[in-house]
Amino acid sequence: MKNFHPLSPTDAYHEATKHSWASVRRNAHDLDWSTQPSAYKRYGADLPRVSLREETPAKRFLYRVAGITAKKSYPGVEYYLRTNPSAGALYPNEVYFQARGVEGFEDGIYHLEVASASAVLLAPIGEDEGLEAALEDRRRREGLLLFLSGVYWRSSWKYRTRAFRYVLLDAGHLLGSAEAAALLWEKEYRIHYRIDREGLGRFFGFGREEGMLSALDLGSVVGDEVVFPAANLKQVDPTGSFEPNERIEAAYRESGYLQGCRKESRVPKIPFEREAWAEAIFRRRSIRQFSRRPIGREEFVQILRWAQAPVPSDCDETLELYCVLNRVEGMPSGLWRDGRYLKTGDFSAEAGYLCLEQDLGKESAVTIFIASSGENYAPLYQKAGLVGQRLYLAATVQGIGASGIGAYYDDEVRDFLGVQGKILYAFALGR
Ligand SMILES: Cc1cc2nc3c(=O)[nH]c(=O)nc-3n(C[C@H](O)[C@H](O)[C@H](O)COP(=O)(O)O)c2cc1C
Repeated sequence: MKNFHPLSPTDAYHEATKHSWASVRRNAHDLDWSTQPSAYKRYGADLPRVSLREETPAKRFLYRVAGITAKKSYPGVEYYLRTNPSAGALYPNEVYFQARGVEGFEDGIYHLEVASASAVLLAPIGEDEGLEAALEDRRRREGLLLFLSGVYWRSSWKYRTRAFRYVLLDAGHLLGSAEAAALLWEKEYRIHYRIDREGLGRFFGFGREEGMLSALDLGSVVGDEVVFPAANLKQVDPTGSFEPNERIEAAYRESGYLQGCRKESRVPKIPFEREAWAEAIFRRRSIRQFSRRPIGREEFVQILRWAQAPVPSDCDETLELYCVLNRVEGMPSGLWRDGRYLKTGDFSAEAGYLCLEQDLGKESAVTIFIASSGENYAPLYQKAGLVGQRLYLAATVQGIGASGIGAYYDDEVRDFLGVQGKILYAFALGR
């Protein structure tokens, strides 16, 4: 009998949610519009709200994390786009934060209410209590402490079981937009994946439909350890409809067990001119069609340099960025990684095919595939999303179009790249 290595539960989830040419055709389904979940969680109208439109550094920061920046209208539907992108514009994440000693905010725990550009005060906090209790280092912080959750049904309504990948990627994009805003604010930041998910879930009153994924810490330690606030919050329905998905819930649970985490403490410097960076945060959009004009070699190098800068976190994983160069001035076409060609030739049509036959992958200047052999699924996938946000912003600053691509033929991409690990994400850059 051959050696048999059982898959870890998250590897099994990844395996089961691969797209292939056949699976996409076999599993095509119509959307049930009658059960479409809401993309906005709303806490009671009686709770105090703080507008984020006023100009204080913290409010500006929070608006940049997930503020609404565009409205799209189609016959019968209107929807709003945000600073952060999202697979299918379904926004399966919520942002909560704690403010302690922050101008414009009473000390307390808040929900970021994207629809009204405000923060809802969920609970005030005392000196000895706070959400630091959910971190490994529970000492009192002054400043902002963000928490990101996933609400998978918003995405599984459309993408079914593969949706947990998008929940993680989209959370990573939010971490990336918070990073971009923190850099502008000149605040040091650290990402925590090693958080007390159960304790947070209990405090926020989450049911099975919502779970915490990560935290972004902008605070400075100012005191002794704190405990969770004594009173838990009441459950609030985040979607208006719900269909459970056992496979996603199992993957979520398993993704909370982290092993052999490596800490990364380097915090990168803002890579571009500040004003242009601030503008790019608001201008960022997903390009829908490329004109096939090339991008410059230096522009490409700048984008990649930023994408590969360190990401400070308590569980860093290594990502590999494979670039299919289609239209970069002064660089021959081919498959390229870290300054070396793995093969040369025109692979644009193949890249388009691999991205589920989407023209974005074919007509781009560069199509990037992000792969990894890392084991810690939630940190790994969120880092891929964060890197995606860096790609968007570094492209936008330079007037280059970009789009995340969550749909690709997993195993065929692996074969094309010649890698063993997981394919986490694809990305197109160009004009
Ligand atoms: C994880 C992820 C996967 C995506 N996958 C695709 C894709 O496969 N094809 C596509 O055309 N757009 C894709 N997009 C772009 C979204 O459709 C876009 O972000 C969303 O419509 C919101 O628009 P905006 O990015 O302009 O704000 C993806 C975005 C993200 C974050």
